[in-house]
Amino acid sequence: MKLAVPKETKPGEQRVALVPSELSRLGGGVDVLVQSGAGEAALFPDSEYEAAGATVVPTAAELYRQADMVVKVQAPSLEEVDLLAEGASTLSFLAPSAYPDVVRRLAARRVTAYSFELVPRISRAQVVDALSSQATVAGYRAVLLAANRLYKFFPLFMTAAGTVPPARALVMGAGVAGLQAIATARRLGAVVSAYDVRTAAKEEVKSLGATFLELALEAQEGAGGYAAAQSEEFLARQQEMIATHVAASDVVVTTAAVPGRKAPVLVTEAMVRAMKPGSVIVDLAAATGGNCELTRDGEEVDVAGVRVIGASDLPAGMPTHASLLYSRNVSSFMKLLVKEGQLAPDTSDEIIDKSAVTMAGTIHHEPTRSALEGAQA
Ligand SMILES: NC(=O)c1ccc[n+]([C@@H]2O[C@H](COP(=O)([O-])OP(=O)(O)OC[C@H]3O[C@@H](n4cnc5c(N)ncnc54)[C@H](O)[C@@H]3O)[C@@H](O)[C@H]2O)c1
Repeated sequence: MKLAVPKETKPGEQRVALVPSELSRLGGGVDVLVQSGAGEAALFPDSEYEAAGATVVPTAAELYRQADMVVKVQAPSLEEVDLLAEGASTLSFLAPSAYPDVVRRLAARRVTAYSFELVPRISRAQVVDALSSQATVAGYRAVLLAANRLYKFFPLFMTAAGTVPPARALVMGAGVAGLQAIATARRLGAVVSAYDVRTAAKEEVKSLGATFLELALEAQEGAGGYAAAQSEEFLARQQEMIATHVAASDVVVTTAAVPGRKAPVLVTEAMVRAMKPGSVIVDLAAATGGNCELTRDGEEVDVAGVRVIGASDLPAGMPTHASLLYSRNVSSFMKLLVKEGQLAPDTSDEIIDKSAVTMAGTIHHEPTRSALEGAQA
């Protein structure tokens, strides 16, 4: 089978779906085609792909035409779907609810499309969990971004010129990105506290040397390791209780997400205005509406001296290692799909079944199918 790696086309996307060192993990019978320049922005030149056994193809059109399967980071655009051969397969961050037209076109062209967002949270799936691998990058970079924008040191300094107290960081949402943000802020020497609605997060937060904020609130328990959406009342109480902690923080990193829904608002405008000028908020939930009321995705907003940074694309800006981790997720997914050098998806495998958005000319993912049928009615 021919596996193709195109150059990403979304502006600012510097990652590549498969790095040269990962090619040897694909197994026999998988011929890799790479669009010329696909890995360049992540510092993987064509020559490294060739040395790893790939064939470099000059244009996207030529690449897509030959591909049995295309692996990408970002969802394919409508133009890219049209370049795919009928019946081909593709794997990416497809986010089906965000791209209904792409999903319809994929089904119409009988393309089998797998989405990393739909991978189930079972332990066997951890190796194909690209949301987690990229959240690790996002959490780390969020703290570096905050440290870079803060007018203060992160660590405690005791010098001949005086003593400087450490920065106070608050991390809201202690999942994969949040835990990485906590670890990074601790390594830089900040005093860190964190909060999550999942009680399981408490021990993890504490093991990283941060304080878990105990709020006298009963949260709805979620399923499959994810948080549940909380009621408006809960969120209002949560805002009230967290307000003094936000006001006392130099840095707030928010990562709270509920799958398939708008991000919960944890930090209101009033809470931002109560923070000290010079403080920084990095909002990793920016793409789904933001955890801060004032967040604008891809922008930095200054509110009375407090910088609110809407940062949904942080992994794209650290492309070498983000691509390396993503590639491992991709090659592991390919191992599930390929038998004896041929694509042979076994739909009785929960990972394959749940990750498929479209298959055999139909919208295979039931919630997406119902949403699109509802939109048409
Ligand atoms: N394959 C697996 O087994 C697997 C894969 C990935 C993650 N996980 C686990 O799932 C958990 C969450 O992962 P994630 O980072 O992908 O989650 P996520 O990106 O969906 O959400 C980020 C965090 O925000 C929290 N959150 C949601 N609403 C909130 C609110 N109102 N206030 C405060 N926090 C709120 C969530 O509980 C979560 O911890 C982690 O414990 C992770 O280890 C398991």
